[in-house]
Amino acid sequence: MHFLSLYAIGALVASVIASPAPVISHVVHEKRNELPYGWSRRSELDRRAVLPMRIALKQRNIDRGHEYLDEVSHPASAKYGQYWTAKEVAEMFASSDDTINAVKEWLTSAGIAGERIKLAKSLNWLQFDASVEEAESLLKTKYHVYDHAASSQPHVACNQYSLPKHIREHVDFITPTVHFDAKLKAREDTRLSKRRDNPGTGRGIGKPWDRGHGSYPKWGHWIDRNELINDLRNCSNQITPACLRALYQFPPGHSANPKNSYGIVEYTPQAYVPSDLDLFFANFSQKQVGDRPILDSIDGGVIQQVNMSFAYNGESDLDLEYAMTLVYPQKVTLYQVGDIVEGASFNNFLDAIDGTYCTYEGGDDPTQDGTYPDPKGGYQGPENCGGYTATKVISTSYSYNEADLTAFYEERQCSEYMKLGMMGVSVLYSSGDYGVAGNLGQCLDRAPNGTLVLNNGTGGYFNPSFPGSCPYITSVGATQVKSNTDITKALATGTQPEMACETIIYSGGGFSNVFPLPDYQASAVKGWFANYPPPYGSARFNNSQQTRGFPDISANGANYAIAIDGRWALVYGTPASSPTTGSILTLINEARLNAGKGSIGFINPVLYANPDVLNDITEGGNQGCGTPGFSAAPGWDPVTGLGTPNYPKMLKLFLSLP
Ligand SMILES: *[C@@H]1O[C@H](CO)[C@@H](O)[C@H](O)[C@H]1NC(C)=O
Ligand SMILES: *[C@@H]1O[C@H](CO)[C@@H](O)[C@H](O)[C@H]1NC(C)=O
Ligand SMILES: *[C@@H]1O[C@H](CO)[C@@H](O)[C@H](O)[C@H]1NC(C)=O
Ligand SMILES: *[C@@H]1O[C@H](CO)[C@@H](O)[C@H](O)[C@H]1NC(C)=O
Ligand SMILES: *[C@@H]1O[C@H](CO)[C@@H](O)[C@H](O)[C@H]1NC(C)=O
Ligand SMILES: *[C@@H]1O[C@H](CO)[C@@H](O)[C@H](O)[C@H]1NC(C)=O
Repeated sequence: MHFLSLYAIGALVASVIASPAPVISHVVHEKRNELPYGWSRRSELDRRAVLPMRIALKQRNIDRGHEYLDEVSHPASAKYGQYWTAKEVAEMFASSDDTINAVKEWLTSAGIAGERIKLAKSLNWLQFDASVEEAESLLKTKYHVYDHAASSQPHVACNQYSLPKHIREHVDFITPTVHFDAKLKAREDTRLSKRRDNPGTGRGIGKPWDRGHGSYPKWGHWIDRNELINDLRNCSNQITPACLRALYQFPPGHSANPKNSYGIVEYTPQAYVPSDLDLFFANFSQKQVGDRPILDSIDGGVIQQVNMSFAYNGESDLDLEYAMTLVYPQKVTLYQVGDIVEGASFNNFLDAIDGTYCTYEGGDDPTQDGTYPDPKGGYQGPENCGGYTATKVISTSYSYNEADLTAFYEERQCSEYMKLGMMGVSVLYSSGDYGVAGNLGQCLDRAPNGTLVLNNGTGGYFNPSFPGSCPYITSVGATQVKSNTDITKALATGTQPEMACETIIYSGGGFSNVFPLPDYQASAVKGWFANYPPPYGSARFNNSQQTRGFPDISANGANYAIAIDGRWALVYGTPASSPTTGSILTLINEARLNAGKGSIGFINPVLYANPDVLNDITEGGNQGCGTPGFSAAPGWDPVTGLGTPNYPKMLKLFLSLP
């Protein structure tokens, strides 16, 4: 009670004479300088209206997460393979009692009775309902109603809010406050909408639904069914499952251990066509005609069959035709994410497989992530938050430019991949298809205020992909068979039949502008800079040798024969390389599980410590931004990473680990 009156006086003094109160001074915690595009302030709020207040508490131990991950995934660690349970992970990173108590004490002293305050299951989020009057007094702010030009749905927000100085260190942020519900802000991305669904223009077909950015397979050309060749001598102009098995020396699958699983993530309205799977299977895996993936529908995800074309079916058909064939009889789980109206982001997927992520570090960002129930009228169920099981390997063939998102957003998401690694999950992302440039070939200029902004791609700063640049995923680049190369002859004579992909696409690669160099990669990156110094300096990329380099590994990404919309086509890109690599990892998991061991989890520390289990790729480059890009070289390089999978060697190595 005594504390309460002191606090009230302090606040009063602060607001009247605008000088810091001696006991509890408030400091601005978050502030917005201008309104997001399309919004205008309408009116004050009824002071008795009730606001659902949520306080995102600071996480404990998150800075130690990389050590925990290293402990269970480094081959030299005594704890290799001793993965964490989801509960252990949640508890390790839960906010500390000090944090929870300090914030609760502040709230109760300000008149929010203790029984009104709830701690979320995720242990990092306090919630309570408050009248506008209470919230304004608590946060020293003023709420208003805002309207958006293109929507009838109003939004409640303030320009800035303040917290007592001693509370700030315990709080990430509070909602509703300055954050705008920009789900109502349609992404006006004309660059992409002009290019929608236009097979035949080669590079640069945008995905209209992908919230602005994405890599996905690039169109080559239609082929006739009788042009399909299942002959290993022809893998340099047409890739089939048999070519991949020969290149990386892995056999067809032969068992389906019930503990094993392989997940492919797709974002609606991208969807597979069931009859395309059968068309593909009829030629390349006859036993599978009629086989379908296990469907995990997230946030209203549907197998849409309304919009049929390469742009809508290319990615999903490619991923499933190859992954299902390569791991059969093991099944593939299809995570189909997002409804047909709004779509979804990687965060929506992560929310579904990890209930604690929904609110972690303040929750999703509605300017990037799908919001459910869909305010635009699609899926009206609640957002999926937990309840889906993460498969042992998860491959995603979509990516953003790192520069599209804020560092805060990326770090939060990257921490989630770290947690998945701690739980024994291998997370793969395609590294991008535009070499050192970003999606659609765009590069970056540094604005006077220091931020990196996209340009037309003829020059400028290299544009790395995300999550490729997150150090807790495995980023997969693309190779191709050298022209006129008979791979069986090459392999028999010990000649490397592949080079970095330079057909239609260029393997995404480079250095992060956000994430530091991870330990497992440090000597590989230093070795590359020392032995093969690139012909560019800091005007092109962060050459400090202190940031994360990608990709980690690569696999073939050129001339994949796929069945699509009842026909056949050849497609290109790291979106082919990633599911192929994931299939090989799934076969290795199958062998480990059959031997009574656990999954391989986060593979980077093992691979960088044993680079000889990959086929080193030393030719080709990844041009972009008006430059030839980087060059593949012996050892790790930012074009093909450590190289392509050598299944027999990888299998032997992983089976030798506990
Ligand atoms: C693909 O299937 C068709 C129809 O069964 C067959 O005529 C053709 O020879 C097959 N092609 C290959 C390469 O297997
Ligand atoms: C397949 O490879 C053989 C041997 O290199 C070649 O003679 C033939 O033209 C190729 N066929 C096609 C359709 O590319
Ligand atoms: C699918 O096609 C319909 C009809 O042409 C169109 O109205 C709709 O916008 C398309 N949906 C998407 C997600 O592009
Ligand atoms: C920095 O400048 C760019 C380009 O003028 C602008 O788009 C961006 O909003 C600015 N960012 C900040 C934080 O002021
Ligand atoms: C791209 O931008 C550069 C630099 O602003 C400019 O000189 C060039 O003409 C532009 N090229 C195209 C094709 O728009
Ligand atoms: C490059 O990365 C290092 C390490 O994160 C950082 O200190 C430096 O500021 C970055 N350089 C530029 C030009 O952004």
